[in-house]
Amino acid sequence: MDIEGSRVLVAGATGVLGGAITAELVTRGARPVLAGRDPVRLAAAARREGAHAVSFDAYDPSSCARVVQDAATALGGLDAVVTAFGAVAFGEAGEVGDEVAEYLMAVDYLAPAAFFRAALGIMEPGSMLAAVTGVVAEHPQPGMADYSASKAALSAWLGAVRREARGIGIGVLDVRPGHLDTGFAGRAVAGAAPALPAGADMQKLVSAVVDALSSGAELVRTAPDGTPVIERRAR
Ligand SMILES: NC(=O)c1ccc[n+]([C@@H]2O[C@H](COP(=O)([O-])OP(=O)(O)OC[C@H]3O[C@@H](n4cnc5c(N)ncnc54)[C@H](OP(=O)(O)O)[C@@H]3O)[C@@H](O)[C@H]2O)c1
Repeated sequence: MDIEGSRVLVAGATGVLGGAITAELVTRGARPVLAGRDPVRLAAAARREGAHAVSFDAYDPSSCARVVQDAATALGGLDAVVTAFGAVAFGEAGEVGDEVAEYLMAVDYLAPAAFFRAALGIMEPGSMLAAVTGVVAEHPQPGMADYSASKAALSAWLGAVRREARGIGIGVLDVRPGHLDTGFAGRAVAGAAPALPAGADMQKLVSAVVDALSSGAELVRTAPDGTPVIERRAR
């Protein structure tokens, strides 16, 4: 996908990572539509990037599908949809309530899937779907069972959809970073984060994400030393 002039919906553009991905896309000449929940942060991000903004709540799947339609209308089509929103909770599995587990599954798995389901209906060959999952999708962590499970569910869904979408020329990118110092863990919907290692360099990751979109790669993961690694084919 040629980033210059591309029409990209970034969902979660009010977040630290989503905001940085949006800024990198704009720097490289893309035309984003920003989607977010918090109205004040969303308006500020849209002003900063000179972009159209649409609001959604990931706990309401119909709002996710609506945002895809609105973004496609605003831009005259979509070349990529990037989901960079999410929620986390901490605590041992027996202590985390069913409501929290259900919320994480809705926000971290079902909502990105709702975005992509809507996008698959309107995207042309050569387009890309991209989701930020996380290293927990392949290495589930104690104290984060439901967060790990929700990200693993999204990653599995992307894996199956990738194989379906190859036939219609649409690429599917899974971004699985390790820990980043975005403050995400401090905004958990329940529980308190354990001691975490120093975060990897977010700007390098963001650059790798946009490179991967550009080259049609299928996976961005973080090496043990924190360096982002782009894999053309996901395994
Ligand atoms: N930071 C890390 O260490 C790390 C590592 C691996 C993967 N990730 C993933 O990276 C993504 C972005 O996280 P971040 O580090 O950039 O943290 P962040 O700054 O806290 O961003 C979280 C984003 O998710 C949005 N969000 C949360 N609940 C929502 C809901 N119900 N509806 C709509 N939007 C909602 C927030 O919107 P509001 O502005 O409205 O709150 C915000 O835009 C997440 O999916 C996270 O799982 C993070």
